[in-house]
Amino acid sequence: MTLRSITLLVGSVAALGLILYCVFPIMFPSKPNPSRLLLAKIRGGDYAHAGDKDAFRVVLPKIVDYFKEQLVEQTVLDVGCGLGGTADYFYTQGFYNIWGIDIDEGAIAYASSKYPFIDFSVFDATKVDQKFEKNFFSLLYLFNVFYALSDQEKAQALNSLAEVAKPGALLVIFECTSPKPEDPQEIKDLAGKPMRPIVLPLFHDQIKKSKWEIIEAIDLSDNYIKWYKDLLYKLDQQKNSFSNEFPVEIINRLTSTYTAILAKLEEKTWGGIVVYARRKAD
Ligand SMILES: C[S@@+](CC[C@H](N)C(=O)[O-])C[C@H]1O[C@@H](n2cnc3c(N)ncnc32)[C@H](O)[C@@H]1O
Repeated sequence: MTLRSITLLVGSVAALGLILYCVFPIMFPSKPNPSRLLLAKIRGGDYAHAGDKDAFRVVLPKIVDYFKEQLVEQTVLDVGCGLGGTADYFYTQGFYNIWGIDIDEGAIAYASSKYPFIDFSVFDATKVDQKFEKNFFSLLYLFNVFYALSDQEKAQALNSLAEVAKPGALLVIFECTSPKPEDPQEIKDLAGKPMRPIVLPLFHDQIKKSKWEIIEAIDLSDNYIKWYKDLLYKLDQQKNSFSNEFPVEIINRLTSTYTAILAKLEEKTWGGIVVYARRKAD
């Protein structure tokens, strides 16, 4: 074998590995999903929720107000924490006791190494009561995670989170909504999971049967439209600068997913919401 053919062989194996990793990330569970990494670059932070940092400007003041600005002693659970940027942002705002869980091994490995001052672990949102003590958390939040759960899983998560929440704890759910159940095959997220926005009448029913009571729900549909327009604009502007690092398939997939979501928002088939709920006493 000549040096040239060895170089060619090694290069082809490396290229094949990169293509497999980018197109079938599920084969590499302990590595972060490359679509998520590209998205984090475009969003300018390790976030995968609508509005990136701007979402915090909208959502955080009520949380800070709820805890009367005594943030340091609160115990916080970031449910479906992804790459950890949201937990890190809460940390920078003064919440120093944060745990993050996610079912995505690669995301947790990435978050744990980048933000070692936060306790990240691989765990399912519907079973948190099997991991944490009862009455442990005072703040629990989900940024664009609820959509990934089926109706039954949504109810399970509400119950499981209530078990590990202190009476009076605050639950924050930031999510997309739809007036009626969506065809789960229609739009899939970057992990290939069907997107099932919150259906409000069903959600109110689930909350009523749980140990949570809604304090306030704020419609964010107009914000969502602006945020997805901005994201698509940034994606379009920056796509050429990422074409060496990420295959064009990934860039195209992100564009088509977010174009489909924006169309749903603009035709008002989808909306956005943030719900603040309080854990009732037992
Ligand atoms: C759109 S991302 C949002 C990530 C993060 N909350 C953020 O704001 O950047 C949705 C996250 O939910 C996680 N997820 C989906 N189903 C889950 C479940 N049953 N339990 C825990 N995490 C889940 C996914 O792995 C993914 O990281």
